Formats: sequence, C-alpha cells, structure tokens
Amino acid sequence: MGKVIACVNEKGGVAKTTTIKNLSIGVAMKGYKVLVIDLDPSAGLTRSLDLLPPGVEGSICGVLRFCIECEDIPEGFGIVHNVEGIDAITSSRELHDYESKLAAAYRREDMLRRYISTIKDKYDFIFLDCPAGLGIFVDNALFAADDIIIPTEANFLDIEAMQNLFAKINMVRKQNGTGCKPAVSGIVFTSVRLSTRNNRLLMEKLRQDYKTANIFKAYIPLNSKIPESDLAKESIFAYEKNCTAALNYMNLVDEFLEMETEEVVTD
Ligand SMILES: Nc1ncnc2c1ncn2[C@@H]1O[C@H](COP(=O)(O)OP(=O)(O)OP(=O)(O)O)[C@@H](O)[C@H]1O
Ligand SMILES: [Mg+2]
Repeated sequence: MGKVIACVNEKGGVAKTTTIKNLSIGVAMKGYKVLVIDLDPSAGLTRSLDLLPPGVEGSICGVLRFCIECEDIPEGFGIVHNVEGIDAITSSRELHDYESKLAAAYRREDMLRRYISTIKDKYDFIFLDCPAGLGIFVDNALFAADDIIIPTEANFLDIEAMQNLFAKINMVRKQNGTGCKPAVSGIVFTSVRLSTRNNRLLMEKLRQDYKTANIFKAYIPLNSKIPESDLAKESIFAYEKNCTAALNYMNLVDEFLEMETEEVVTD
C-alpha cells in the first residue's frame, strides 16, 4: 500500500516543487514505484518536467470533476509517464476554477483522499506538490497525506510562520479521528548558503530550538544548477548528477527512505 507524502509550506518560493520533483525522481531511481500529483494551479511541477497534460480534462481538473460528481474514475485516468521513471497527474491553470467548485462540494476536504485510496496499492509512494497558502487544495492534501515534508529557507521568521501550518495539521488529525495522521516527516532547509557564517549558525540554532519537529540532516544548498534544470525540464540528477545540489538531494532521498524503511520495521 503506497504512502502519501505532501510537500507543504504556507510560504511561496521555498522550493516545494523543486523538492517534490527531485525527491520523487530520486526515490524512483532507487527502484520504488512513484506517482506525483501536481496540485498547484500555476503547474510548476508539470512545466518543470515538461509533463504533457492530455488536455485540461486529463489533468487533476478532470480527476476532481469526477470526484465532485461522484462518478467512477476510469483506471489510469489522467496518469502520464515521465522519462525519468515517475508517473504523474498534471495540473493546469484551469485548476483555479476548482477552488470554488470544491468549496461548494459535499465533503470537500476529502475528495483527493477518496480518489487516492483507489490507486494507492499501485504505488510505493505518492507525492503531492501543494501550492503556497493554506487553501482548499492544501486541505485536500493534508486529509490525503500520511506524512508531510516542509521545505523552508533557514530563517527564524519563516519557521515561526509555520505555526499556522502546524495548527492546521492538528485540526486535520482531530477531524480525521486519528490524532496522529498526517505525521510530519521533517523540515528540510533549502537554498542554504553555507559560505555565510550567519546561515550556518542559524541552521544550528534552529536544529536546537526545534528538536521535536525533526529537521532533516540533509539540506539543499543554493545552487544555480537548480533553476537551470527547471529550464532543461529535467531533475537535477539528469541535468548534472555530480553538482552539489544533486548530491545533497540524493542525501535527502537516502535519509527519507531510511526513515520510511525504519517505520515499516517498527510499525
Ligand atoms: N537550492 C536552490 N538553489 C537555487 N535556486 C533554487 C533552489 N531551490 C529552488 N530554487 C529556485 O527557486 C524558485 C522557487 O522554487 P520552487 O518553485 O520549487 O518553490 P515553491 O515553494 O514550489 O514555490 P511556489 O510557492 O510558488 O509553488 C525556482 O525558480 C527554483 O528553480
Ligand atoms: Mg511550487
């Protein structure tokens, strides 16, 4: 049964999409069966991997339309395959229209979870790329997710601002009756400038202050190869597998998988 991992942060531009793109492909490179779902109307993940959507209807919009209308979804509907080894459900800007459609729907936060439950056994991991903010798509992702990954830049204000997200996660845990799901897999520091003493000290202090929140040991340095890989519409591993960003994203993949494997053993 696949595990659902949502990548969430209320703040924009903190490398949510970059992290989902490289983590999901890195996990697929290790032999796992992976699906990514682009839940962002700006469709950054779809565009940065050149995932050709089979029209708006074949994107996440079509999936949500079936869900809202309580119709059965044909097997494999909307799933495209990427050359780097992952399956994906694409997004498109028409997803904006689904904010109000979802808001008016019965059990609106639960649409995505119910859909994912029909395909969960086909994958080892299903990764969800969320838009910034804490709107209806993020609600759906939190209700569907087993675990959450939170990318952030290493600064106090951003971490303090995560209180809204943690409050929301707690609310979802109460509403779904589990008290513990979704779990927070961890916070990952992105766009780190280790050459700056300030950034190094800050990361150390945040690790001390937020011991219980699980901050991944792996961190992602600021590296121009990342936007270049977006332009090339590839993962960082396909674009330049030996650059520092690729090596650090692979460290994240290893740490993530180690944690997931441990969980399976101790569960
Ligand atoms: N480690 C990095 N080094 C340099 N640039 C980076 C790094 N990580 C991400 N970027 C760049 O930062 C920009 C924002 O990244 P990304 O789109 O992943 O953020 P996001 O959190 O998904 O944003 P949004 O909230 O808009 O969805 C992109 O142009 C990306 O290429
Ligand atoms: Mg994004």
